[in-house]
Amino acid sequence: MKITAQRSTLKTVNTDALVIFIPEDAKEFNGQMDFLKKYFKNIFEIANLEEFKGKKDQLLKIFSGDRIATGRLFLVGTGQIENVSLELFRRASAAAAKKAQNSQAKNISFFLPQFDTKLKKSEIASAIAEGTYLSLYKYDKYFTEKKEHKSKISEITICDSDDNIIKELKKPLSETQKICEAVVLTRNLSNAPANEIYPETLAERAKESADKFGYSAVIWDKKKIEKEGFGGLLAVNSGSSKPPRFIILEYNRGKTENDTIVLIGKGVTFDSGGISIKPSAGMAEMKMDMAGAAAVIGTIEATARLKLPVHLVGLIPATENLPSGTALKPGDIIKHYGGITSEVDNTDAEGRLILADVIAYAANFKPAVVIDLATLTGACVVALGQHATGMFGNNNDLMNKLKSAGEQTYERVWELPLFEEYEKQIKSDIADVKNIGGKWAGAITAALFLKRFIPKNRKFNWVHLDIAGTAMLEENLPYSPKGGSGVGVRLLIEFLRNWK
Ligand code: BES
Ligand code: MN
Ligand code: ZN
Repeated sequence: MKITAQRSTLKTVNTDALVIFIPEDAKEFNGQMDFLKKYFKNIFEIANLEEFKGKKDQLLKIFSGDRIATGRLFLVGTGQIENVSLELFRRASAAAAKKAQNSQAKNISFFLPQFDTKLKKSEIASAIAEGTYLSLYKYDKYFTEKKEHKSKISEITICDSDDNIIKELKKPLSETQKICEAVVLTRNLSNAPANEIYPETLAERAKESADKFGYSAVIWDKKKIEKEGFGGLLAVNSGSSKPPRFIILEYNRGKTENDTIVLIGKGVTFDSGGISIKPSAGMAEMKMDMAGAAAVIGTIEATARLKLPVHLVGLIPATENLPSGTALKPGDIIKHYGGITSEVDNTDAEGRLILADVIAYAANFKPAVVIDLATLTGACVVALGQHATGMFGNNNDLMNKLKSAGEQTYERVWELPLFEEYEKQIKSDIADVKNIGGKWAGAITAALFLKRFIPKNRKFNWVHLDIAGTAMLEENLPYSPKGGSGVGVRLLIEFLRNWK
């Protein structure tokens, strides 16, 4: 799908579907509608304008037949101008785009709002393009019958009559295109079945992206992982017939030593629970237990394409979690990278076991910041559902930055506490720490487990994002169909763009 900006007027625009934003405020509403009525005289005669008041979420479709160059005209209400937001434009555009696609449009054009808001034109344009692009996503790789009769929108155009505005949109829109492509990569990797994406193929995909977009990928095989002593990764892998991988991605345009940011992504390519096996109902969803890894690959790809001035490292431990005669067992004790030992009380709490090695390993990069993304706990889904990512960390400034990036992109994060009182839940009688914390506060005890692995003598600022609810959607969102959402990519790119 191609995003472009084009100078045009209502007279010159040539498109299958034209979208115009109309505010609710009386003066602007009347002004714009009067203008359109005059302009589109003949087609407004056949339209039912009674109901349309420019209210938020109102969407009016008018078929023009062949009376104008535009095939279909959509009027989209924005509500009161003082309340408009980027998210409103993403959603309004997504709604119009889906309707346009359903009525066979092959391309869609949006006029930038012809009223003044507190938002920058370029931000609005990007939000429109993003909402449209992401809402039309469908994971259809495995359908053998090509539905050619069903039209697909392949072009998004943002229009304005002012040439200067159009010039200013070129760069932001080309960046939006790259970010959307990265989100789609992340969604595709998440949605891919576990017989397509397993540790070796996940590593291959990361390598392909690295080769294509000019960053590096180093892949450790099982022998190297053994040599380095990643006990958690090896333990979880021991039930699988597919070997593990450790993927190290690196992109460096950092200006100083202090620009090193490490991203860690949970890469469990299928989580059956292992010997502590999960119920079969819903187990298929656990092909997405590598969504954190996918978000790290998407983020570093977009970062490289946007040439952001940072030193970004992506670390991905990848394995399946399966039961077998050689599998990890409840009661086993693991020695992790860095030497800390953990008692395995439940083999389904596997994410933290593989992340523990990598959090300890991250210290070798002397990072300014370490952020891990993991579909870590069902408890986080219970707490926050699919509308907020659980956030934990040891640095308020860093968490505030992620919070603002979340508000800006609407990939919102919500902080949960790491009070020390919870720590006794993961105390083990026979090892340094235990991998489950009992019935209550499961998302918190999982995060506290991870925190243990920040080396005491080489501490770093760290945030853990539990994306279990937000990365694998059970229900459609306005511009994220159910399944893999690609969450994390837009959030982290926004965070990295503001990095200084
Ligand atoms: N991958 C799951 C967490 C998960 C659950 C992600 C639901 C997405 C949706 C994780 O490995 C897991 O199994 N966690 C257990 C931990 C428990 C055994 C302490 C859980 O949440 O039930
Ligand atoms: Mn599990
Ligand atoms: Zn898991």
